[in-house]
Amino acid sequence: MKPWPYPLWLAHRGAGKLAPENTLAAFRVGAGFGFRAFECDVKLSRDGEAFLLHDDTLQRTTSGRGSPADIDWAELRRLDAGGWHSAPFTAEPLPTLTQIAAFCKANGCALNIEIKPCPGVERLTGEVAAREAARLWAGAAVPPLLSSFKPEALQGALTSAPALPRALLLDKLWDGWPEAAAALGVVAVITNWRLMDAALIQRLHAKGWRALVYTVNDADVAERLVADGIDGIITDAVDRLGPGGA
Ligand code: G3P
Ligand code: MG
Repeated sequence: MKPWPYPLWLAHRGAGKLAPENTLAAFRVGAGFGFRAFECDVKLSRDGEAFLLHDDTLQRTTSGRGSPADIDWAELRRLDAGGWHSAPFTAEPLPTLTQIAAFCKANGCALNIEIKPCPGVERLTGEVAAREAARLWAGAAVPPLLSSFKPEALQGALTSAPALPRALLLDKLWDGWPEAAAALGVVAVITNWRLMDAALIQRLHAKGWRALVYTVNDADVAERLVADGIDGIITDAVDRLGPGGA
């Protein structure tokens, strides 16, 4: 296998649950607990800005409503993406990928960009996110790892920024996933932790792919996976697990 430049522990959506997910505030909290690698979800505004949001709609985690694919960035940037979490985070904005890149580079942090397209723009989202990532991290020692559950999004990333590393995300082991991963030229496969065991880790390693898992919030599970040879663990439990925890 090729050298793997990423830390074992990645903070999920910035800092999981302790701050509003996918905001700069969350990244600051995660970094405060010692994390030097983060996972975040990236999608596109109507006018093509790459920014952070998990859901296909705005209402759970912002003051907006509807699909961000129908709204320009000039409007999205005014939303409150922190007040839903707790009062101290009120008025925390949605961040652009550009802002997150600046944070990561300034703080020596690695990033796993999960390409999370709104329905119908899978390939475009992969193309734009990867093109932006290649521009933002040009010359960086550790490039961002681009991942997606959507093979079409990874195909778009492969087309627009072939040199950036890619990972296939799996919430189940669907028919043909090894062939899809090979065709996409991935460096890693990231599964729900419930799917991962020593046999699958060995199978992935035998293909030259790293093995990562989401979202591990239990110390015993993490310990078992580390013993099995896991390469990366995405966690919400930034205060209990990882660099500053167990
Ligand atoms: O990238 C791994 C993990 O974030 C996938 O699940 O739904 O939290 O984006 P989700
Ligand atoms: Mg994610």
